[in-house]
Order: sequence, then structure tokens, then C-alpha cells
Amino acid sequence: MPKTEAEAKKKAPAKKQTTFKNLLKPIKVGPVELKHRMVLAPMNDTLSGHNGEATEQLVAYYAARAKGGAALVITGAIMGTKLASQFVWGRNLQCWHMGHVQGLQLLTERIHYFGSMACAQITIGFGRQGHSVDHHLLAPAPTAGLPYEIALEKAPKPLEVTWKHIEHPRSFLVGQMTREMSIDEIHSEQKEFARSCQLLVIAGFDAIEIHAPHGYLEHEFLSPFSNKRTDMYGGEWRNRKRFLNEVTEQVRYSVGSGVALGVRISAEEHMEGGLTREEMVDLGMDLEARGIDYLSLSDGAGYEEGGHLVPDKDRAAHIPEHGVDFKKALSVPIVVASQHDPVKADKDIGAKRFDISALGRQLFCDPEYPNKIVEGRPADIVRCRYCQTCLGRSLAGAGLSCTQNPMLGREYSDPQYMIGPRQDHEFVMPRGMLAGDMPNLDRPWWKTEYPYIEKSWRKFRGPGPR
Ligand SMILES: Cc1cc2nc3c(=O)[nH]c(=O)nc-3n(C[C@H](O)[C@H](O)[C@H](O)COP(=O)(O)O)c2cc1C
Repeated sequence: MPKTEAEAKKKAPAKKQTTFKNLLKPIKVGPVELKHRMVLAPMNDTLSGHNGEATEQLVAYYAARAKGGAALVITGAIMGTKLASQFVWGRNLQCWHMGHVQGLQLLTERIHYFGSMACAQITIGFGRQGHSVDHHLLAPAPTAGLPYEIALEKAPKPLEVTWKHIEHPRSFLVGQMTREMSIDEIHSEQKEFARSCQLLVIAGFDAIEIHAPHGYLEHEFLSPFSNKRTDMYGGEWRNRKRFLNEVTEQVRYSVGSGVALGVRISAEEHMEGGLTREEMVDLGMDLEARGIDYLSLSDGAGYEEGGHLVPDKDRAAHIPEHGVDFKKALSVPIVVASQHDPVKADKDIGAKRFDISALGRQLFCDPEYPNKIVEGRPADIVRCRYCQTCLGRSLAGAGLSCTQNPMLGREYSDPQYMIGPRQDHEFVMPRGMLAGDMPNLDRPWWKTEYPYIEKSWRKFRGPGPR
């Protein structure tokens, strides 16, 4: 037994303090430099207005995550076409016409003001997982007559209780009837989506993430469970990949090289006969060949198998493992969700399991997590308990809440998240707009084409005597 305190200190092996050197290493993602490897995972906050616009409540929520030190603040899925915005769950941001740019630009300015980079996650549609306002329209999907259905016992645990008792969230258990998207419609949606991505660049986003995980439209085209087509978009794997490959090609072309482009996919489906890790690695290689700057991995087949989408503690444990196979096959950075433990995340990055840690519920719970790691105060982090209150509120369309963080969703009441005069590190013009050419895409399909009458134009006269 040590007799004095000094002796005790000498004898007890000093607990090695992690320096988080891997987690804190800057990383280049396409044209964007991230100050470290901790980013906000995309999460639908249900804080947007009912026309899909950014509200002060939403902007302040993201500002708090930027001020808390996240290197990249990724938005929840933004509905990227007019059709897509008719089939949402609760409320989602929208971006498909110039009117949406104003609110999104307020959002990117606030994120930049607090020293983070801004990324927009954008979706071409929720497919059979979308819900029209009246719950009766046919949802546009790869295949007609194929709604999803969630068995109550498969629902994420604490939510089961709400779904048993409350009618509105229960309508989430069975999807709407679907209709098959025609090939013409697929092409016009792809074109509109690519144009919407240009609007995001104009709004000042540094990165764009195509949303393709969790059983939504892009995933539905990939999966043999939801895609029963017999044309060029269905059947064999090569055809099922076509929709997402084409979307990625068109978005890469439309946004130019000034912004980083990522795609988020599920790493596998966890269903018998469903998409496998090998297939998804193969898809990742296709996407890399089409010019993406990063690949983000989530998990699961979608609502029918929700346990991996927003996992409980046990199911989350294996998620960082997914990165290994993708890291071996791809050279772009790999983003992985659900590693809430900073010590393990640091080790995972060091062991080349992934490159960037996307923190979801953990940053609902404690937005200051990244700052606490930077300042060497990991013990001060308030840890997420996986209680799913945030998810339950979001699914009910009720806006966010967290049992651990009373300020979640109320950030707008705190003056520290307000914006001030422009700072030196902010850009006067959106960077992505100037750093790479954005091609002039065709007029959107829903507008009338006006003939271009060249001869009625006045001749341009340069300077000099007239
Ligand atoms: C309320 C809520 C909303 C979510 N919305 C999205 C979304 O819009 N897009 C997306 O790709 N993932 C979404 N997710 C999944 C998260 O990005 C993340 O993958 C998941 O929560 C697991 O990570 P975590 O353990 O760090 O929370 C959502 C999760 C939650 C809890």
C-alpha cells in the first residue's frame, strides 16, 4: 500500500490521455478542406416551414452545431424537385426554385460565420417512403402497387409505444400505394434535380450530398425488394444501378468542380436476398468513377427494417466496421455514422476503417462535442442515451427535442447563435460558384420554351466613336 499521496501518484500508472491525433487531422474532400474529422450527420430536423423554407428556428439549430465546432454541417434531406416535395414525412427543406435560395443562403452564411463548412443533403424523392399531405396520392416509385409495411415488432423499441397509442404516427406503419415512374418522368426528374443542385451552389453550400440510403427513391431503384421493373432501370444489378449512376453523373456535371460532391448510401440491407456489402462496394466504385469526392455510409434497407437506419446501441456497434471494405476498394474519403465514442473513432480512423466520423444524435445531445475534443475535454461530453426521443418527435413532425439537451430546437432564443458583421474568413461571393464552371442547363421542363429571336436583338456596340 502506498503511504503518501506522492507515492501513490508515482506507483499508479498514469492513465494515458488520448490526444485524438487522427480525429483532429484536417482532411481534403474534393476542393473543400475540413479542419478535422467530426461532422454533423444529416438529420431531418422538422424545423423548416410548411413550404419547405428555412426558418429562424432551423437556422439557429444548425448555427449551434457550427459554433459547437463541427467541421462540416450537413443538412437533413432537402426535397430536390417539385414532385419530390409533394411526398415528404412531416416537414423537410425544399430546393427546386429560386425562391428557396434566400432561406438557404441565410443558413449557409450563419454556418460560415461560425467557421464551419456547409453541406446540403438533397434527395430526388422519398419514393414509396414518401407521404403526401393527404396520405392518398399514389407515391411515384420504381414499381406500382408496392407500398411498404412495418411490422410493429420490428419498430425501433421506444417508438413502438407511441405507435400503439397515437393514430397520426401510426399512419407511418403502412406506406402509400405506389405508381410506376415512366422513363420520361425519370429523365425530367433527373434534369430538374441537377438544376436544383445548381441552386444549392448559388445559396453558398460548399458541398452537396446526394441522398441515396435507407429505402428512399434512389435506394428503391437499387433494391430487388422495391424494384420489379423490366426496362433499362430494373432487373439485373447493372440496370438497377443505372438511376443513381445517372443522377450522380448529371449532378457532377451541373455543379462544376467548385463544390465537393458526396453520395450517402446504406452499406447493406440486412435482409435475406437483399443488397449485400459486396454490391454496395461495387456501387461505390461506380460512383467514384463518376467523380464523387466522398462516400458516406449509413445502413439498412429502410423503414421495413428500421433497426439499422437509426440504430440502438447494440446495432450501432458494427456500423464503423462497414467502412473497412469500402476503404480497401475506393480512394475517396469514407464517412461513417454512429461512432459516438471519440476514443474509438480516433482508433478507427487510425486503423483505416473510415476517414470522417458523422455524428447524428450525439450532436443533438451535445453540439459542443467537437469543441470539447479540440480542447482536450472529452470527459465533459454529454453522451447520447439512444432513447430515440428525437426520432419520435421528428416522425410525428413535431420538431426536435432531447431528454439530455433542453436547448435542442430552442437555439433561436439564445443570442450567442445570432450572426454579426461579415468576418474575414467568410466569402463575399459563394465560393463554389466562382471556383468551377456551372454549365447552363436546359430550361426546366415545366416552363414554356420561348423562341429565341436573334434578329430582334440590338447589335452590341463597343466603346469608341459612334
Ligand atoms: C431524427 C433523425 C432524422 C434523420 N434524418 C436523416 C436524413 O434526413 N438523411 C439521412 O441520410 N439520415 C438521416 N438520419 C440518420 C442519421 O444521419 C444517422 O445515420 C443515424 O442517426 C445514426 O447515426 P447516430 O448514431 O450518430 O445518430 C436521421 C436520424 C434521426 C435520428
